[in-house]
Amino acid sequence: MSYEAIRYEAADGVATVTLSRPDVHNAMNETMRRELTGCFESLATDETVRVIVVTGAGTRAFSAGADIREFVAPQPPTRFREQRRRVEFRQAMDRCPQPIVAAINGFALGGGLELALACDIRIAAADATLGLTEINLAIIPGGGGTQRLPRLIGRGKALEMILTGARLDAAEAHRLGLVERVVPAGEAVAAAAELARTLAAKAPVALRYAKEAVVKGLELPLADGLRLEGDLSTLLRTTEDRLEGARAFLEKRPPRWQGQ
Ligand code: COA
Repeated sequence: MSYEAIRYEAADGVATVTLSRPDVHNAMNETMRRELTGCFESLATDETVRVIVVTGAGTRAFSAGADIREFVAPQPPTRFREQRRRVEFRQAMDRCPQPIVAAINGFALGGGLELALACDIRIAAADATLGLTEINLAIIPGGGGTQRLPRLIGRGKALEMILTGARLDAAEAHRLGLVERVVPAGEAVAAAAELARTLAAKAPVALRYAKEAVVKGLELPLADGLRLEGDLSTLLRTTEDRLEGARAFLEKRPPRWQGQ
């Protein structure tokens, strides 16, 4: 599969998706949205990929959000909505059973931060700048930001960010729980790759079920979430890998996972 606005690499169970329009801080145009949608749709059913890393090309930006040049040629609302519906790449990300790690280098603004919010774990470089800045353009976040941000950092902090359009540095983003980890400038991709390798070495079905239990469980009342956890953990007691894990521990050797 060849892409124009993104790059895709996969090796050893880790796929890396790189937004690749560095001249415009990896701003998202229609081509990029279409390519990201296709890429995540095929990743969702790719058994060979255990972990996904998302990042931006170059050192200056993860993504500066929607390509503002497309804003000056407005479309009729229904056409805009239908077109966006076909390229809902963040919803395609939601359908991926694999953990998705964001490596945030530089600017993650507007739709760029919304892309990071659709990931499971965010690692930011110390010089990263994050914000939902749409309000400054007389619009609001339309890529899930008004829903995912308050679920992540709480209503008051999310409203403060969304209403002011403020840009936060990595340290502040870390304090708020917007990113899980801050690493020295230039090291976000390496740190994400290392985390991805660690995750890719886990038993594949357990890795997927652990994500499913947390992500799906958060959408449920506690009793239903506990039921989901119980069902998934019971299912995992039927795998070959669970026997292999126990044997490897007792025989003091590394496990050899079969993925079943
Ligand atoms: N859409 C289209 N082009 C963008 C862009 C965007 N979202 N963000 C940056 N670019 C372009 C700039 O127009 C510029 O292009 P040029 O070299 O042809 O003039 C190039 O990327 C470099 O950006 P520049 O503004 O010169 O870099 P900077 O380091 O001074 O500032 C930002 C970087 C990210 C702070 C600034 O570009 C910015 O505020 N971008 C818009 C972010 C935003 O509001 N996103 C939400 C959109 S809903």
